[in-house]
Amino acid sequence: NNMKALIVKDKNEGGKEGYKVFADALNNGAKVFGLATGSTPVTTYDEITASDLDFSKATSVNLDEYVGLGPDHPQSYHYFMQEHFFSKKPFAHSYVPDGFNANEKVATESYDKIIDDNPIDLQILGLGQNGHIGFNEPGTDPKLLTHKVKLTQSTIDANARFFDKASDVPTYAYSMGIASILKSKKILLEAYGEEKADAVKAMLEGPVTPDVPASYLQEHDDVTIIIDEAAASKL
Ligand code: GLP
Repeated sequence: NNMKALIVKDKNEGGKEGYKVFADALNNGAKVFGLATGSTPVTTYDEITASDLDFSKATSVNLDEYVGLGPDHPQSYHYFMQEHFFSKKPFAHSYVPDGFNANEKVATESYDKIIDDNPIDLQILGLGQNGHIGFNEPGTDPKLLTHKVKLTQSTIDANARFFDKASDVPTYAYSMGIASILKSKKILLEAYGEEKADAVKAMLEGPVTPDVPASYLQEHDDVTIIIDEAAASKL
C-alpha cells in the first residue's frame, strides 16, 4: 500500500507537523476541515490556535458526539471543541453531531446532508488503541455513513473517570462512518504513545479488515500519518 508515516520525537513535534498540514491545506484553498476530539489532536490545535491562520471563512465538521450530552456538558465533544479550538480560533460555521437529538434517523441523516453540502477538504483523525477511528469500533460495516454507535464496554470504562457516577457515562454516540471519512479529499492521522503501537502496525502493515477500522485508510490516496517513536516502535 502507499501509506507512509512521518515519525517524530514526541507529540509536541507532531503538533508542529500537524499544524503544517493544516496551514498547507488552508493556503491551497481548503474550505472545510473535518475535526476530531481526544487527547491526540490537542498539540496540533494548540499550534493552530497560537498561529495567525485564519479560519473565519472556513467551515468545520466534527467526527462524532455522545448521544445524550448537550453542548454545555463538559464531557461533550461540543464543549471540547469550544475549549480547545473555536473559542480561540472561530470558523464561519462549525458543525458537531447533535447529541441531544434522540431521533437517530433525523440526527444522522441531517449530518450526512451537512457533509454532502460541505465536502471535507482535510480530515484530522486520532486512533483508538483497538484501531478505531471516530467511534467506528472494530467490526463496523465500512459502508456506513453517519450512524448511531453502541459504545464498547472498554470505551465506557475508559470514560468513566470523567463522570460523577458510572450511570452518567453515555452508552451511545453518533459518528461519521468509515465511508464518510474516506470521502475527505485529504486525511491526517496522528497517533502518540506506546499504547497505540499495535494499532499503528495493524493500520499500516496489516490487511484491510473491519477488525481494524483504520486499515481502510490504505484505500485512500492522500493520507498523512504522523506518529511518535513510541507509536512506531512495532513497525
Ligand atoms: C475516542 C474518540 C476518537 C479518538 C480516540 C482516541 O474514541 N472518539 O476520535 O481518536 O478516542 O483518543 P485519544 O486521542 O485520547 O487517545
